[in-house]
Amino acid sequence: MRILIFGPPGSGKGTRARLISRLLKIPVITTGDMLRDEVSRGTEIGLKAKEYMDRGELVPDELVIRLVEERLHRPDCSGGFILDGFPRNLRQAEALDRILGEMGMELDLVLNVVVDPEIVVERLSLRRWCPKCGAIYNLKYDPPKVDEICDECGARLIQRSDDREEVVRRRLRVYEEQTKPVLELYIERGLVREIRGDIPIEEIPREVEEVLKPYLERD
Ligand code: AP5
Repeated sequence: MRILIFGPPGSGKGTRARLISRLLKIPVITTGDMLRDEVSRGTEIGLKAKEYMDRGELVPDELVIRLVEERLHRPDCSGGFILDGFPRNLRQAEALDRILGEMGMELDLVLNVVVDPEIVVERLSLRRWCPKCGAIYNLKYDPPKVDEICDECGARLIQRSDDREEVVRRRLRVYEEQTKPVLELYIERGLVREIRGDIPIEEIPREVEEVLKPYLERD
């Protein structure tokens, strides 16, 4: 299956993408994680991306499109994938159409996670993230078993520099202005399924299974 997860910052896209990946055994392509990896390795892309990410703005399209195009051509994507955080504007959506068209592929499903922006600000201030394996925690709603240590790989958790309140509010504005219009495109194509981002975190695995059930039964 080829799935796109859509929604504002902090809506729970990454949390769901990891669950779906485990369930369907397909890779997650999270542009935010890919960019953070470039930043931490100090690559040319990373050096350019960092200033935009720290301000909560979109990284220039050509950099992100290049990363995604390369990633989608890797063999592990041939059996399906989950896109998390891409496309984020209409130009990226056009690029995705072109890339998938050239590969003879189409999206099967767009999951739109709907959540109140005020919830997101609190959630993100409490998020911790594993820079080694990408696992996501929340100090209030989903804490690690040992303080500040990743349950999955034992690495030390970090707080993302763009999770400060003023940057989160800027990211939410960018989402409303640039990213939300992309949703219309997928609604017109009949691909969008809305899911609630405000259910308790422990109910997310059941919600994900429920949403995917018809597709799993079909295959
Ligand atoms: P990116 O990393 O993609 O960030 P984002 O889209 O803003 O989304 P987040 O990762 O913040 O949130 P999420 O929806 O995945 O939520 P999560 O599951 O972690 O992008 C970062 C930056 O990179 C951008 O600002 C931009 O600069 C750049 N970038 C990335 N892609 C780009 C692109 N295509 N083009 C240009 N630039 C790009 O959950 C959040 C927290 O809430 C966690 O702590 C989680 O445990 C908790 N939580 C989740 N669900 C619940 C729940 N139901 N109840 C309670 N807590 C919950």
